[in-house]
Amino acid sequence: MKSCFTQYILCIGAGYVGGPTMAMIAHKCPQYRVTIVDINPERIAQWNSDRLPIYEPGLDEIVKAARGRNLFFSTDIEKGIQESDIIFVSVNTPTKTFGVGAGMAADLQYWEKTARQILESATSDKIIVEKSTLPVRTARAMERILFSTHNGVRFEVLSNPEFLAEGTAIQDLERPDRVLIGSRQTESGLKARSALAEIYANWVPQERILTTDIWSSELSKLVANAFLAQRISSINAIAALCEKTEADVSQVAKAVGMDPRIGPKFLNASVGFGGSCFKKDILNLVYICRYYGLNEVAKYWESVIEINEYQKSHFLITMLNAMFNTLAGKRIALFGFAFKADTGDTRESPAIYIAARLIEEQADLVITDPKALANAKADLKGIEGKVQFVEDPYEAATGSHAIAIMTEWRQFRELDYERIYRSMAKPAFIFDGRNIVDHSKLYRLGFNVYPIGKPALTHL
Ligand code: UDX
Ligand code: ADP
Repeated sequence: MKSCFTQYILCIGAGYVGGPTMAMIAHKCPQYRVTIVDINPERIAQWNSDRLPIYEPGLDEIVKAARGRNLFFSTDIEKGIQESDIIFVSVNTPTKTFGVGAGMAADLQYWEKTARQILESATSDKIIVEKSTLPVRTARAMERILFSTHNGVRFEVLSNPEFLAEGTAIQDLERPDRVLIGSRQTESGLKARSALAEIYANWVPQERILTTDIWSSELSKLVANAFLAQRISSINAIAALCEKTEADVSQVAKAVGMDPRIGPKFLNASVGFGGSCFKKDILNLVYICRYYGLNEVAKYWESVIEINEYQKSHFLITMLNAMFNTLAGKRIALFGFAFKADTGDTRESPAIYIAARLIEEQADLVITDPKALANAKADLKGIEGKVQFVEDPYEAATGSHAIAIMTEWRQFRELDYERIYRSMAKPAFIFDGRNIVDHSKLYRLGFNVYPIGKPALTHL
């Protein structure tokens, strides 16, 4: 019985993408019934509790308002598939760690299991929407699985990549730059595309809903992330040059970014980019290029990742050199562990690399982060060494020889660094991996300051 709802929507995968995206659809479209299912019962229990499994500003409010009204979280995948008209697939697609393409290609096992489960459970026609980032041509593979039996059920596969960034997911979903829908150019493909576009049209202006063929849509997602990551690697490469030549990377970024053809965004030099998407998507791009024999193109995109790896190790070497080439037994406070501010997510965070290398150098680590301590503990599990996790940055800094800022949390800009300086071992060092604190002021307080892409300010 389809009660008062005009549409039944299902999302398979209750993660960083599926959760917020579906919450926004439920929030904007009370006429639809939106269900999110996941194989992980703990995750579903968290979505149904007062403590959601992910931290995202503004998410709690919209989930709590819609939950039980037209937004539901469940582990009953079969029932969800049977009663829905449109199914979003948003399961994880990590980089393969084994076999052919290990370290590069996407691991599609979760995604293929989902396709098979849809096929097994569906008793009526469905529109399947690819939301997870997937290598180009996955929709075709999904079609092959879905079309492999002839039980009379028809499926139409659409690509609808998600462009939200963590930390700003709710505003990105509420006012997206664009909604991209890729479909087959057949009558049924175009009909499915219109049905999906109609959902977004509840709150997204028509001119922002962009339609393409499926392959272009899948590729656009990889390319968007590759271009963004490329900007960061470009400015980070220039940061290294600035450090050698005493130029200031922020001033260079400002001067360069004022050219409207370049633009000012995404030019903050840093300890390196992290997050679940950039590296994975570039690796996918590299893998596809190699597959088609485009080795020069593959090398070009691979270098974006290489610079990012360089950036992390360069940061570590700067710390080591500055601190008299020995970190053994020195207490070092990592300010931040999340891959960016306003999230508890630590996937591919540069802090993981820096922490592991500092432990290798036998430093005593103390990690503080407003939202990511639980994930930090999980990331460093099994690494032998002295590591403490504390909520209070002042406590973390007390007795430390150095602070390394890993995440651009606003809280870290606003700390009382005079108090912090007094509590630290001397000489006190600060390595600002995000260029967020006032370097001259900290220098005047007595710190030896090492920003990214700017001359160090030292008393030594
Ligand atoms: C990214 C894309 O922005 C988003 O469109 C896509 O859907 C998913 O991947 P996300 O990984 O959540 O989003 O965060 P993003 O804001 O892009 O930051 C990625 C990394 O780059 C972070 O580690 C961030 O700190 C770093 N970064 C960003 C910089 O180092 N410098 C910058 O100027 C911008
Ligand atoms: P993303 O950042 O892409 O959203 P996440 O790892 O946060 O990725 O979320 C993916 C979710 O998909 C996880 O909660 C995982 O348990 C779920 N998942 C993986 N495979 C399946 C499956 N076959 N059926 C249902 N859910 C799945």
